Amino acid sequence: MSEFSFDALRRFPDVEAENLFAVDASDRLILDEADAALEQTAGDPGRVVVIGDNYGALTLASAAVLGLHGIRVHQDALSSELALAANAKRASEIDLTGRYRILPLGRELLEGATVVLLQLPRSLAALDDIARTIAAYADPAVVVYAGGRVKHMTPAMNEVLSASFTEVTATLARQKSRVLVARGARPEVGAPLHHREFHDDLGLWVCASGGAFAGTKIDIGTRLLLDHLPEMRPDARTAVDLGCGTGVLAAALAQARPALSVIATDQSAAAVASAQETMAANGLADRVEVVRADALSGFDDDSAELVVLNPPFHIGSTVHAGIALKLFEAAGRVLAPGGELWTVFNSHLSYRAALHRAVGETRQADRNAKFTVMVSTKR
Ligand SMILES: C[S@@+](CC[C@H](N)C(=O)[O-])C[C@H]1O[C@@H](n2cnc3c(N)ncnc32)[C@H](O)[C@@H]1O
Repeated sequence: MSEFSFDALRRFPDVEAENLFAVDASDRLILDEADAALEQTAGDPGRVVVIGDNYGALTLASAAVLGLHGIRVHQDALSSELALAANAKRASEIDLTGRYRILPLGRELLEGATVVLLQLPRSLAALDDIARTIAAYADPAVVVYAGGRVKHMTPAMNEVLSASFTEVTATLARQKSRVLVARGARPEVGAPLHHREFHDDLGLWVCASGGAFAGTKIDIGTRLLLDHLPEMRPDARTAVDLGCGTGVLAAALAQARPALSVIATDQSAAAVASAQETMAANGLADRVEVVRADALSGFDDDSAELVVLNPPFHIGSTVHAGIALKLFEAAGRVLAPGGELWTVFNSHLSYRAALHRAVGETRQADRNAKFTVMVSTKR
């Protein structure tokens, strides 16, 4: 066991700002509610699984304070994985890197687990995927401690958990946080469902696993961007769908332009899995490469002639412009001179100056009551 400081945790490489934190009261409440169950596993490594740990508080406190080893971890966002790795080296006087293993959401993550610590995801579909996976593969005696901020929790979350567990109880709220405790796994409910929908107007299949933005639907902002597909750098040879979600934009571009080389990229594991399925369903798997990356990390400077982007305005559950700015800067770096960034966002957001700074000359290509489409040309 070793000293551990929540205050030493940082969000990096995720956006850092004064009003954004690497740990919150729900992390502490999950750990407190699960304390006795966690201690019981101490002599039996590999019994604890952590899902959705934002920046490593759950994993690293369990490793340092309770001395746990062999913790299995799944985080949807690549920036969360990277933050956990960085915090493992700084939150305690010993390096905690070897105490945990990152795995995809599936059998290897859950097999034999008796305690699961879960930061509740925003989407019910994502929660359903997680609950089904736990119930299908964990030890039948598994207990799930699923916590979040009360303002982000809904009664529907209890219902989703109740579909995969026979008993779901809520703890008392503390510091605006609450934990749902689920027991009695129902493995018969089965592993997560694969959703797909054919969109006649686009001539495209869209496939989605739980956590993917908009599910199998087409977001209305994305639809407005799609209206402008023919105008987007018609002579481009290389294009990137940044924050690709289910891969709608990448698939539409590849389908419309057979000579175009397209990369679809997102930091979300669920998005990447969905985009891969979307490409396969449309016979585009050999035309579109799908890459999990945080804001184009690993992409060469000046390497793309076209970037399309429908940026998120949430970081986890927090509405924050920082994530869009981070993606504009990434696009500015990866675009070749003369290359274009096409982006769509809510009309009340004034991103024009930021786009100008990050990429270059920016003009409005379209605007309706809700959304604005901008095109920025790399200087
Ligand atoms: C508004 S959704 C758009 C999804 C898809 N392009 C569409 O139009 O339906 C924004 C996407 O950005 C992704 N994203 C958020 N932060 C990111 C980051 N740092 N790097 C890459 N992608 C990110 C999210 O996972 C999400 O899939």
